Amino acid sequence: MRIFSGIQPTGVKHLGNYIGAIVPYIEGQERGEGIYCIVDLHATTVAYEPAALRTGSYDLAALLLAAGLDPARCILFRQSDVHEHSVLQWLLMGVSSYGELLRMTQFKDKSDKQKDFVSAGLFSYPVLMAADILAYKTDEVPVGDDQRQHVELTRNIAERFNSRFGETLVVPAGVYRTVGARIMDLQDPTSKMSTTGANPQGAIYFSDEPSAILKKFKSAVTDSGREVVRGPDKPGINNLLDILAVVRGVSVEEVEREFEGSMYGQFKQTVGEAVVDYIAPVQARYKELRADEAQLEAILAAGADKARQIAAQTVAEVQAKMGVGPVRSAS
Ligand code: TYM
Repeated sequence: MRIFSGIQPTGVKHLGNYIGAIVPYIEGQERGEGIYCIVDLHATTVAYEPAALRTGSYDLAALLLAAGLDPARCILFRQSDVHEHSVLQWLLMGVSSYGELLRMTQFKDKSDKQKDFVSAGLFSYPVLMAADILAYKTDEVPVGDDQRQHVELTRNIAERFNSRFGETLVVPAGVYRTVGARIMDLQDPTSKMSTTGANPQGAIYFSDEPSAILKKFKSAVTDSGREVVRGPDKPGINNLLDILAVVRGVSVEEVEREFEGSMYGQFKQTVGEAVVDYIAPVQARYKELRADEAQLEAILAAGADKARQIAAQTVAEVQAKMGVGPVRSAS
């Protein structure tokens, strides 16, 4: 069982990234062969600061290790260190259609936000993501709900490649949490929590102090009702129920039972305190790990060496099937 996922090294990571993706990465490393990639090349598709991108990769490596990724049990590496991703992206461009890329909602959202320049990289971003996944003959891709369309595209690309050139690529399955696959913004609970949200009060960042986290939950937008129960017109409460259920490792129904008859204020206070306790150990380990950049670089370099061996094999097979490059003797 091979598990692969990627995460962008931009901005400060938030509770949505953690619950939707990072926690499943840790579980994945126990269940199978986990391969986790810091996708710095993807981050170059929108306006960015080069120095911040480089340090962002170390920040993210430290966070992933602090969360529990263990380089002895999984492969953790930086995308740009394994050139095979870029090579495979180009090879897959020929079996990716312009029309399907145009339909990607994330491209539409992100291109609308770019003021004066929409890069071709932003448009072909999902093909690089497909290359990331397919290079490792991945079985499962743990991601948040916002990546569902990209994973479906990856499956289509793999199937199209296989039917055109013969069985080569593994068609991967997206894996989404039943609760917590889409953590919403605390100020606008109809939008997902994100690094680029309109209001920083809406996201819980790993760099937040406990007092800031408690304040953000205290001012979380709810509704005019009074009962702490799920409801179609209660996106704020639904989100807080999901968060508390995940953090405590219980079902949403159990949380509802516990807060029967409670006021929203009391509930929000409890969720805030639970999140503070949940991420505090990760925040503490992060500080220690982030202090040793040479060690982080060594871990990423060793991960890249292992990743390259797998990806190079796939690229060689793909090239052979596509008639690209010289005839190779079977190894
Ligand atoms: P990125 O860096 O935006 O997000 C990293 C992971 O966090 C999940 N996520 C969320 N989950 C729940 N609630 C939220 N509010 C929330 N916000 C983000 C994302 O779904 C993701 O799993 N394109 C990808 C990176 C990527 C990738 C890949 C992923 C590149 N190559 C190959 C998987 C496989 C992205 O931008 O994720």
